[in-house]
Amino acid sequence: ESAGMESARAEASVKNEPILLQALDGRVPNRTPIWMMRQAGRYLPEYRAVREKAGDFLTLCYTPDLAVEVTLQPIRRFGFDAAILFSDILVVPHALGCPLTFEAGEGPRLVPVTTSAELAALREELDPDKIDRVLEAVSRIRAELPKETALLGFCGAPWTVATYMIAGRGTPDQAPARLASLRDPAFFTALIDRLVETSARYLVGQLKAGADAVQIFDSWAGVLDPTSFRRWSIEPIRRIVSLVRAEVPGARIIAFPKGATLPGLTAMVQATGVNAVGLDWTADRPATRYALGAKCALQGNLDPLTLIAGGRALDASIDAILADFRGASHVFNLGHGIRPETPIVHVEQMIARIRGV
Ligand code: CP3
Repeated sequence: ESAGMESARAEASVKNEPILLQALDGRVPNRTPIWMMRQAGRYLPEYRAVREKAGDFLTLCYTPDLAVEVTLQPIRRFGFDAAILFSDILVVPHALGCPLTFEAGEGPRLVPVTTSAELAALREELDPDKIDRVLEAVSRIRAELPKETALLGFCGAPWTVATYMIAGRGTPDQAPARLASLRDPAFFTALIDRLVETSARYLVGQLKAGADAVQIFDSWAGVLDPTSFRRWSIEPIRRIVSLVRAEVPGARIIAFPKGATLPGLTAMVQATGVNAVGLDWTADRPATRYALGAKCALQGNLDPLTLIAGGRALDASIDAILADFRGASHVFNLGHGIRPETPIVHVEQMIARIRGV
């Protein structure tokens, strides 16, 4: 068989790859891949119907039939270029043995873990009774998705997950976790280490079950000073990337350190070697592209409030994002999760505008 035929075949397989993966590999696909953080969720009536029947949010996460169904809902409705596994970042502490509940309209509640003794009482490894259900959902989603649609797995970054474990809930500035890191560094370091190891294994499980790429959500990176950002956001993510790629060579990984500065993002890319960084809506796009456009793919960064507003504000914002990233490896996304009050027609308007139809 001639080398020419082989390279023609390689070329064809590159072209048939989901466009999201082309962008993550540093190429510029012939159209911009689109997905939305929290794309399966309460803004969709079909999600609310399943959620109501299940009764409890965690039941959705641990029942493969339901997790598969709600993951696929936004793909069927909008034809996004990627599906993201329906689950939650707090499944990791839950599978370590932290009791977890979601109260309607109040967000998550965990039994706080604030001392070395409390950490020692948790599991060393994730409970397979919980995690295997998530991994079963991953392989079934992959089997049901169209070939051209990428499947993303995810986990929370150790810093962000630790903030919820220590406070037992979301707080405005994550003061409890910041204080714990200062007052009891031995406990705090051990908690981060536990999360690095278990999160890496969890991502490896998702990739082996069929996820095409994974995203690490560091939603609370923005409350850290530059030194703490290196220590508690970059360094744990660097270790996760290296553990994951030791098991899954070439694993594609997106880091989303929400609220990071451009020097912080630059250091993150340099230290971790992630394929892409997620940008929140405050990012300076031209400056970010100038600094990082040749080093990794850039994902983002429509303000979720612009998607609620719709109209000309939405069109103008989309046009600016596309213009700023034209010719770069860009994945269109929001700067944070879509909010429940977002009108579905605005999502349709967004997709049509990006795809030029
Ligand atoms: O993006 C997706 O569609 C995949 C599913 C997904 C969920 N949560 C579903 C969910 C993902 C990737 C997450 C990540 C997550 N969870 C993060 C990181 C991203 C971010 O938003 O910053 C965080 C911090 C959490 C923790 C969490 N889960 C909170 C604070 C809440 C309550 C606030 C809220 O929006 O309700 C959740 C609950 C949650 N996770 C819901 C969904 C669809 C709503 C639960 C419901 O149906 O009542």
